[in-house]
Amino acid sequence: MIAAAALRARFAADGFLVFPGFATSAKIAALRRRAAEIVDAFDPAVAGGIFTTRDETRSDDDYFLSSGYAIRCFFEEGAFDEAGRLRVPKERAINKIGHALHDLDDVFAAFSRDLRVDVLVHELGMADPRLYQSMLIFKQPGIGGEVAWHQDATYFATEPESVLALWFALEDADRDNGCLWVQRGGHRGPLRQRFVVEGGRARHDVLDATPWPALAEAEPLEVTAGTLVAMHGVLPHYSAPNRSPVSRLAYTLHAVDGGARYSPRNWLQRPPEFPARGFVGPERSANNANSSQWS
Ligand code: FE2
Repeated sequence: MIAAAALRARFAADGFLVFPGFATSAKIAALRRRAAEIVDAFDPAVAGGIFTTRDETRSDDDYFLSSGYAIRCFFEEGAFDEAGRLRVPKERAINKIGHALHDLDDVFAAFSRDLRVDVLVHELGMADPRLYQSMLIFKQPGIGGEVAWHQDATYFATEPESVLALWFALEDADRDNGCLWVQRGGHRGPLRQRFVVEGGRARHDVLDATPWPALAEAEPLEVTAGTLVAMHGVLPHYSAPNRSPVSRLAYTLHAVDGGARYSPRNWLQRPPEFPARGFVGPERSANNANSSQWS
């Protein structure tokens, strides 16, 4: 077991922490069942939503930009043939479901609002966590797309910088099926880009021309199902395409500090009547903040 001060020190040095065995197989099974129901109910005709971090014009559409307080499915880039037909069955063609599963779906809400994560996030220095985003990422066998080097803070500007990513492996993740690769300590480098939406148009602004890390600097995070990876928002990371026959299912949450100013130019804006909430809401007790399951 690790004391809070040691956790903070390791996080400050590396920019990420790995907790194997965080989620039970029963909890994972419940998420997978619910995800299958959501995909089953999804009509591909309503959405051309294709997610990519390489070409912002693809995500520059209302289906994506208005999904901050919705549950929507997004297709893999390679899901369609040249005639626009699905190459594989719908349930094998979805890239992800986003972005408010943690607020709008009871099963995902129960998984997301976990007091152990609340404690961890506080131990890492976030005084007033607000959960802005959730994503169920499929990384489908054979066609699961690459997610190029990026920093999650690109998508969640706050002043001061505060975003924290929580990445839950719902299946074993390894080099073959597209595990995360990180640059250990890279969060101490600059934030390179900012994803900005103005007037309904999205763009990437370059903040710093520092190149992305060389492959030799990238470290694979090969983890077993149930592992939680916590990442600093400025940590460079990527995941390779999944050309293997097995999927690499993961669930992610992004929290920012409610005490920081959330940029009105971030793509994800919550309607005033549905503000981003914390792990347990305003009634959160001081006991939760102070007790540590890691120490
Ligand atoms: Fe990311």
